[in-house]
Amino acid sequence: MNDRPTALITGATSGIGLALARILSIEYSLVLTGRREASECADELPPGAQYVKADFSDPQAAVAEIEAAMRTAGLSRLDRLIINAGTGYYAPVDREDSAMIRETLDVNLAAPVLLTRHMVPFLEAAGGKVVFIGTVAHRGSPNMPAYSASKAGLAGLARSLRSEWEGRIGVQIIHPGPTRTAMHKKAGYPGGSLERFFFSADGMAEEIIRLMERDRLQATVMLRAGFRRLLTGKWS
Ligand SMILES: NC(=O)c1ccc[n+]([C@@H]2O[C@H](COP(=O)([O-])OP(=O)(O)OC[C@H]3O[C@@H](n4cnc5c(N)ncnc54)[C@H](OP(=O)(O)O)[C@@H]3O)[C@@H](O)[C@H]2O)c1
Repeated sequence: MNDRPTALITGATSGIGLALARILSIEYSLVLTGRREASECADELPPGAQYVKADFSDPQAAVAEIEAAMRTAGLSRLDRLIINAGTGYYAPVDREDSAMIRETLDVNLAAPVLLTRHMVPFLEAAGGKVVFIGTVAHRGSPNMPAYSASKAGLAGLARSLRSEWEGRIGVQIIHPGPTRTAMHKKAGYPGGSLERFFFSADGMAEEIIRLMERDRLQATVMLRAGFRRLLTGKWS
């Protein structure tokens, strides 16, 4: 690694995480995580990024893999930790079985708690910042009970860490609105004509990066930049 700041992005093999990685690779040295084998996703990732295979459905093993890979690479500082990996199912509560609920809570909530805990020394060394990727559905949404609950938990985690780490490590949670990624199909969401109004993954990543430079605890991304400019007359 070199003198550039370092960012770790989880769930960087697809959608918003991959778009964030491609944009941030211009400025940051990147550590990217995903659950696939490196050979299955290396061609899509930005050149020069370090890839760590870590499946968050086993949070403890995944976090140990990531920490070991960082130490092996000689990394001791982390400027940005972007906790983006996420999963969930589009199903009414009586259709979600315990394996689906367990996976959703492990990937979206237990793994972020553990990962932030293990990254404290790296973040502290850089005066870095954790950015959690939540969802507008954290306030509750029909047919996404475990997913919404896991993201509401993530918002609670962000608020807690923000108070606990004040002056040491920055904490932020950004709640994306609907975005065209592979997530909807994986979750069993039927889609439909509304999808054409969704953000693109690149558009959402740009909004997240813009908000990441601010110091607000939480922000929601619902309006495309063009609409926002039209409504507010502001360019940032
Ligand atoms: N798309 C939306 O409308 C929307 C709206 C609000 C919030 N979000 C949030 O945005 C984040 C990114 O989602 P996305 O829309 O970009 O979805 P996506 O394209 O499905 O990307 C999700 C990423 O998380 C990874 N992931 C899933 N399960 C994992 C596991 N068990 N272990 C490790 N990695 C795992 C995926 O790996 P694979 O590539 O192997 O599947 C992928 O890299 C999520 O936290 C999601 O909740 C999305």
